[in-house]
Amino acid sequence: MLKSFAIRVSSAVVAAVMMLAAAFVPARNYDVRDPEDCLLNFSILSDSHIETTNLPRYRVFVKCLQDVRKIESGNDAVVFLGDNTMNGQVLENMMFHGAVRMILKKDQPILPVVGNHDIGNDEGDPAKLRKRWCDFTNAFFGKNVTTPYYSEVIGGCTFIVLGPESNADTFALSMSEAQFTWLDGVLKKAAESKKPTFVFSHYPPDDAELNGEPTDRLIDMMAEFNKENDLFYFYGHTHMPLYLFWSFRDDDGFPTVNLPRLTELGGGEDNEIIGNTGVGAVVEVYGDRVIVRGRDFYRGEWRIESDGEVCEKRYDLKNPEPKKTQEITPLPFPFFPVPETTTDPAEPIKN
Ligand SMILES: [Fe+2]
Repeated sequence: MLKSFAIRVSSAVVAAVMMLAAAFVPARNYDVRDPEDCLLNFSILSDSHIETTNLPRYRVFVKCLQDVRKIESGNDAVVFLGDNTMNGQVLENMMFHGAVRMILKKDQPILPVVGNHDIGNDEGDPAKLRKRWCDFTNAFFGKNVTTPYYSEVIGGCTFIVLGPESNADTFALSMSEAQFTWLDGVLKKAAESKKPTFVFSHYPPDDAELNGEPTDRLIDMMAEFNKENDLFYFYGHTHMPLYLFWSFRDDDGFPTVNLPRLTELGGGEDNEIIGNTGVGAVVEVYGDRVIVRGRDFYRGEWRIESDGEVCEKRYDLKNPEPKKTQEITPLPFPFFPVPETTTDPAEPIKN
């Protein structure tokens, strides 16, 4: 408890000092496409790569968080899809977690995901850095995780976070037998709800490994689940910019969305704002569909494709919510409607 408090206070101080140097331009309000009917919505930001030596990247991150906050319906969750820090250092974690906690609203679930950079990118000590990730996640986001995988039910939908467990190779989604067994149980329970299930991993699904060997087991499990249920798999890692024709796929038997690097910058010094800077996604869940919309959080606009259209994809659900029947107001005694009078008493009767 004392340790969590100390982490939170010191991180707030570090983030506050760093944020003083970040540009504060008030973001404009925006909203989901159909606020009346939207059952649930959440934002996804991937590959922030927060690093003490790159202030321009931190400025982009801070400005994007301000836009995330401005959605009028609020966020039912915000997902950080891994590589949230560059090296998993304590100071980087303080900057990342401090900014998230200070800018985003306190009452919404935050779901962090472990990426290869968060656990050393094959240069640090993955076991130590994974423990640090758990400590920060628990101290800031009210969780009690001891593994890089966990799940939460939000608005009836199941949110599943997968994570790498190997200390030998941080570039693969190394899953233990225990993680597969756990996932199997979570999917079985999610199937009972008939609601959309969202899976988040820093890595593409074909990067999954079991006992150090590539495996199709993850893909097979999710494809099987998606035959009768609605599963969506989100990943980052590739740093490919967001475009409809390559970021949104369903080759494996379930929809996948590849999120770009949020803090994408250009120039030799990695410090120039470019067209792909600050892009993530907003996911909207309706009774009969899920819509994934690209969001330019940096500029406070929807992500636009080269043809001028918004980069968005609609998925019709296999298990739509039953339509609500209109409430019938019971008629008063004597059980037949009394016709409304149309005669204006002030009007003289003409013969
Ligand atoms: Fe990355």
